[in-house]
Amino acid sequence: MKLGIMGAMPEEISGILDMLDDRVRRQIGGREFWEGTWSGLEVVAVFSRLGKVAAAATATVLITHFHVDHILFIGVAGGADPELSLGDVVVARDLIQHDMDASALPMFDRFEIPLLGRSRFAAHASFRDKAIKAAQLFFDHDFDGVVSKQTQASFAIGTPKVATGLIASGDRFVSDAAYLESLRAVLPDLRCVEMEGAAVAQVCFEFSTGVTVVRVISDRADHDAPVDFPRFTAEVASVMTKGIAKQFLYLLMLDLSTH
Ligand code: ADE
Repeated sequence: MKLGIMGAMPEEISGILDMLDDRVRRQIGGREFWEGTWSGLEVVAVFSRLGKVAAAATATVLITHFHVDHILFIGVAGGADPELSLGDVVVARDLIQHDMDASALPMFDRFEIPLLGRSRFAAHASFRDKAIKAAQLFFDHDFDGVVSKQTQASFAIGTPKVATGLIASGDRFVSDAAYLESLRAVLPDLRCVEMEGAAVAQVCFEFSTGVTVVRVISDRADHDAPVDFPRFTAEVASVMTKGIAKQFLYLLMLDLSTH
């Protein structure tokens, strides 16, 4: 089992790099891929840079060059579900590209990926369950130790929740409540918006590779998002992504050692 771990920004992946043993760096296509091990499990970690094209190119290299069996994408997202607060975690059940629209052509629906005949890509079911459990273990055992009460209060984090559902990706940082509402009107199960997950999911679908996407809510995708996002990313994102990834790797190793 070889696991690819992706984040869009250095802050989302730096904590994870610290956990790898025997790290070796390889530069491909302007990206740094870090090969290493975690308790014997082979891992390749990389930050893709923002957006669907960057993420798709990076996922393709992970699959075709490094031959990973599964990709875990971990990072932050703007909350779309009013039940979600900053610090909550969303694990994708399925993913959609909210800026894909070829519907001016009568044969395509809005969001449909032409020639694939689908708009949604499913996350790997059993890895998704592991990611949900990993995030809950992180909140139950580690969260208060790595995010101070003062920082939690400054982001109005109460008791953080783990949710699952639809994640929408697009080449747009959403900071417009009206746009978000228009998406929610047509995608009532939408949980959060980000800029990479569904692109990685499409590549994984086309290469028959499993995908798991985990997102920590950094903002509400509204007019406050440009302020909340950089502050959350700088102060909280990397310790949370590291903590959740660590629990996920631990559950994966447990599973591999008992099967
Ligand atoms: N990632 C984090 N917050 C986001 C937002 N509001 N829009 C798109 N991607 C995001």
